[in-house]
Amino acid sequence: MASAALAIKSGHLVAFPTETVYGLGANAQNEEAVAKIYQAKGRPSDHPLIVHIDSLDRMGDWAIEIPEYATKLAGDYWPGPMTLVLQRSNIAKDFLTGGQSTVGLRVPAHPLALALLAEFAKIGGLGIAAPSANRFGKVSPTTAQGVEEELADYLQPEDLILDGGPSLVGVESTIIDCTTDTPKILRPGAITEEMITETTGQKPESPINSQVRVSGSLDSHYAPLAEVLLDIAPRAGDGLIAPAFMPTPVGVTRLSSPINLEQYARELYEALREADRLKLKRVVAIQPEGDGFAAAIRDRLARSAHRG
Ligand code: TXA
Ligand code: MG
Repeated sequence: MASAALAIKSGHLVAFPTETVYGLGANAQNEEAVAKIYQAKGRPSDHPLIVHIDSLDRMGDWAIEIPEYATKLAGDYWPGPMTLVLQRSNIAKDFLTGGQSTVGLRVPAHPLALALLAEFAKIGGLGIAAPSANRFGKVSPTTAQGVEEELADYLQPEDLILDGGPSLVGVESTIIDCTTDTPKILRPGAITEEMITETTGQKPESPINSQVRVSGSLDSHYAPLAEVLLDIAPRAGDGLIAPAFMPTPVGVTRLSSPINLEQYARELYEALREADRLKLKRVVAIQPEGDGFAAAIRDRLARSAHRG
């Protein structure tokens, strides 16, 4: 952990596990190091990065004008799968925020991530910028092997990949915009609308609530090479992701059989990755029903199924 923290301090990249997905980390204050993240991912530079911090005490380093409800959310759900978007302090530069006046902050709940952040703090680091450790538009890795498959060709010899086992949540953090009077969910995740309402006493604005879903406004993301199709009958040769009670038709490769939402989310990305390893052309996913975490899973499925 000490040498990994030192690598980050020296401007190298360190991929590390979090409870959601693996991140590709760099010193959030080092412009050249952050540029390496964009290069390795092939990501447009106007997409802002999340800054990972070791405790909520550090919110005030990176953010200003923090509303009370955001402090409550941090108190209840950090460390955890939640990112808060706040007005940035002057430590958070344009190269990190894609030129926006806000910054995304998260305390991850993974022992290795927290150990890395603590070691980095010991040598003066204030935060680690990390997007998911995948090429732009591709499936987020939930294992160290997944990171290697995505990025081995794009990392330098001094860069590191830390192996902390499979991510237990499996889909990215809930992102909550905390820059107005009402919290607003920008990306659904394991911290649900209901949990946010319970903590803040305010019902968050949420894209999931909106009745209109213009499919054209969906960006293709989380997409494997295989074509992802939703809620249709699979045919021979297809891969299948479906709740455990559903049978596997003859000739179909079962990729995941979750017994609950948590398992669905935990196995989803690895199942999509496995489809590509097996060179399957199509994956059929039967979507989970219901609100809360199910909505986050459907959000990811819809994007991975969207072409273009
Ligand atoms: O679970 C996660 O959040 C993972 C782990 C590694 O922490 N990280 C992650 O990062 O998913 P990334 O970069 O793949 O997705 C972060 C999303 C991007 O869509 C970005 O546009 C948005 O967060 N974001 C970051 N900062 C923002 C800001 N200041 N305002 C609005 N959106 C922001
Ligand atoms: Mg990502």
